[in-house]
Amino acid sequence: MKTSARTTYCAKIDESSIDQRVTLTGWASTIRDHGGIIFIDLRDRSGIIQIVSDPIDCNNAHMIMESIRNEYVVRVEGVVRERSEESVNNKIPTGKIEILAENVEILNSCVPIPFQIEDEIDTDENIRLKYRYLDLRRPNINNNFVIKSKVMQITRDYFNDKEFIEIETPYLTKSTPEGARDYLVPSRVYQNHFFALPQSPQILKQVLMTSGFDRYFQIVRCFRDEDLRADRQPEFTQIDFEMSFVNEEDIIDFTENLLKTIFNKILNIKFDNQFERITYEESMERFGNDRPDMRFGLELKNITNIFSNTEFKVFKQVIEDKGVIKCIKVENSSLSRKDIDELTIFAQENGAKGLAWIKVNEDGLQSPIIKFFSDEELESLKNQINLSVGDIMFFGAGTENEVNKYLSAVRLKLGRDLGMVDSKDFKFVWITDFPLFIKEGDNLNSVHHPFTLPKSENGKDLINSKSCAYDIVLNGIELGGGSLRIHKRELQEEILSLLNISNKESKDNFGFLLDALESGTPPHGGLALGLDRMLMFLTNSDSIRDVIAFPKTQKSSCLLTEAPSKVFSKKQLEELGIELIESEDE
Ligand code: AMO
Ligand code: AMP
Repeated sequence: MKTSARTTYCAKIDESSIDQRVTLTGWASTIRDHGGIIFIDLRDRSGIIQIVSDPIDCNNAHMIMESIRNEYVVRVEGVVRERSEESVNNKIPTGKIEILAENVEILNSCVPIPFQIEDEIDTDENIRLKYRYLDLRRPNINNNFVIKSKVMQITRDYFNDKEFIEIETPYLTKSTPEGARDYLVPSRVYQNHFFALPQSPQILKQVLMTSGFDRYFQIVRCFRDEDLRADRQPEFTQIDFEMSFVNEEDIIDFTENLLKTIFNKILNIKFDNQFERITYEESMERFGNDRPDMRFGLELKNITNIFSNTEFKVFKQVIEDKGVIKCIKVENSSLSRKDIDELTIFAQENGAKGLAWIKVNEDGLQSPIIKFFSDEELESLKNQINLSVGDIMFFGAGTENEVNKYLSAVRLKLGRDLGMVDSKDFKFVWITDFPLFIKEGDNLNSVHHPFTLPKSENGKDLINSKSCAYDIVLNGIELGGGSLRIHKRELQEEILSLLNISNKESKDNFGFLLDALESGTPPHGGLALGLDRMLMFLTNSDSIRDVIAFPKTQKSSCLLTEAPSKVFSKKQLEELGIELIESEDE
């Protein structure tokens, strides 16, 4: 039998094609036999269309239709016709038409599969990841990658329009510190030497500025060996760019317009105003963290001053220890005693020692701690917090870090539990004026990375300086971060030494950057957006794994390929000069 090539995709056919002959290819998704008449939903990446055959009109084709099973791959040649009134399906775009099969060919069969190829399935994620080739056939997951591809195209167009040059930086390279562990690759040629997979192209994109490229971008894979979460993968993609001769404002505007373009083209959302901007300090004070979800209020308020002479021993101790007391007010709350107890346990799981509360009832205040408060304290509280009947407030007392950590978690939980967040509401916010360093014990660590330009004029008091760094946050998730960079050797060396990195270590790890900085590096800056995280928003996915074709599990392994795996060839290890230490459980 002579077969014809596919003429179109299933879901591209509509009523204007009635009576036309088409050839389609795809997978048999639903198969029904209605008294000898067979209906098969044929699915390709565009959607589905119904194929029908009966023994009288379709003879040979019908016999083949009878032998088709779930997920067989088939080619169907037939004529588009209107469905009878009772079989119209308004739930799908092709629901008014069907194809009367004339020639049918089975291109491949399919063994019974572990889950159905449909959007809503209740299958364990590990099974989905093991059979990822089937999982990716599911229309909604499949569509995530269509959107991802469009976003990459929009991004490339955007940068090309603005005369950026797309340049690849190597994956086999030297460590680029971004705060995670490196993935190392042993070198065969240089025994006992390792490449590091880049945590980002940070240093090399800076070197490209030294080379005069002026505007660079790359859609680039980054590798970080760190604990995984719903929005983190060991291997992920950044939209990375760097520009010379720019100020903070240029980079912020540039990123903001890119984000507006992408959200407009993919979700048809228009942002008329500039994204809100708040400083790091304000963000910590009002929200308790540096990636606030701005879709709802429930802001934290510092009320330490009210309790400076308190007799309540918990608060008294905290104030003596230079801690803080902050609170969250929930207006008109319907929270029950059980909800409050659950919230207290949740706060404790996030590091709280307790979660004191006050509820304003019709007949007065109800609280386990109110008996310890003086009249003046209660009066100040009522004035500063503006309490009304129905309100409830929660107190956090402890070190500033502790309180911010658990009250910000409590705030997010309340926002979600009280239905104050809408996944279709996109509230971007810029966080600016980050500190340059964070003190951890006796050590200083960079808040961003060691190449960030300090704000302090003339290099004074670098330790307490703010930095020219900025993060873009969307609905409580950090989408991207960037900064102006240090472009002079002396300052870079000083920062590395404050980070307790010895001269030798600096030269070994960053010598080429330091040399470049004294070889005519222009002032420059840039930013990187997490492409996968952005896709979570654009596709309304809860997990980053749903927007990465072959993701790793929470335990950093790939269930499909079973990577990482043992190396069985002794020769391969010998060539690399590697001897394995057997672990105890082997
Ligand atoms: P940063 O480390 O903030 O900055 O990374 C930029 C963005 O990359 C995304 N991202 C991740 N996405 C998924 N999984 C991960 N494990 C992961 N880690 C980071 C986030 C983050 O905001 N070189 C600098 C950028 C610059 O200064 O130009 C950098 O890499 O969305
Ligand atoms: P206690 O005196 O430990 O029984 O605590 C009295 C109330 O204060 C309880 O409701 C505790 O949940 C709460 N509480 C205790 N420690 C703290 C704290 N550090 N911050 C906020 N509330 C606390």
